[in-house]
Amino acid sequence: RKIAAFRALLGDARSAVAFSGAGISTGSGIPDFRSPGGLWTENRPIDFDAFVSSPDMRREAWRRKFTIDDATRGARPNAAHLAVARLVEQGRVAAVVTQNIDGLHAASGVPADRLIELHGNGTYATCLDCGLRHQLDDIRLAFEATGDPPACRGCNGMVKSATISFGQAMPVEAMERAYAAAEEADLFLVLGSSLVVYPAATLPVAAKRAGAQLVIANREPTDLDTYADLVLRGDLVELLRPYAGLA
Ligand code: OAD
Ligand code: ZN
Repeated sequence: RKIAAFRALLGDARSAVAFSGAGISTGSGIPDFRSPGGLWTENRPIDFDAFVSSPDMRREAWRRKFTIDDATRGARPNAAHLAVARLVEQGRVAAVVTQNIDGLHAASGVPADRLIELHGNGTYATCLDCGLRHQLDDIRLAFEATGDPPACRGCNGMVKSATISFGQAMPVEAMERAYAAAEEADLFLVLGSSLVVYPAATLPVAAKRAGAQLVIANREPTDLDTYADLVLRGDLVELLRPYAGLA
């Protein structure tokens, strides 16, 4: 059985990478992007060029950001996040590489030196000009008071959620850490990602080329399924609950 094969791979792992996408957080009530009802089945994403060149796009981006934040406030790590954290604690998973910006891997107890957030972090904002960090609550007050896209309190520059948009440069250090972990991995676990966003989706291939076993656990098929050693097509919370250490 596939579940037995999965258990055996995890049992042998010493330097696994858990590579997560939005599918690991749907069990916490946060919608993914590309499933029916996902965020981008309703709205096209606002890319980086549009954000910087149009005040209306910036307004729209902040409006969407606060709407989703309101809808997901209080989201807690689910059993899949807890299982990943526990596998890190047990020394089986050496690095958690996530495309998610929701902070739930950190909240589930994965230490910062094991966690690589490839697409940034949606829990604060930064100035695109001077890098100054801003609290979302402050940004929101200013936005709601004036209706104008928020400006930096330090340099009056453009402030953006600390996440990576399409067309925006990837964080160099995070990418380097992710490739290093992929190349040292004995097992590479894809957890809830459609694997269509690059460069993140090159990581499973890099890991397998370097000798890792590749497992893809996702509700829907992905383009890399035929390349994987094991494909598990179900709900991640169900799959990982036995490893979460819950009674
Ligand atoms: P997607 O929405 O593209 O894919 C999520 C995948 O998870 C889908 O294929 C679902 O079938 C699957 N899924 C959802 N819930 C699941 C569950 N409970 N159990 C198992 N599978 C489940 O999200 P990502 O692949 O993360 O980037 O998207 C990658 C990037 O696209 C995101 O990081 C985001 C977006 O652009 C940025 O914002 C920069
Ligand atoms: Zn600034």
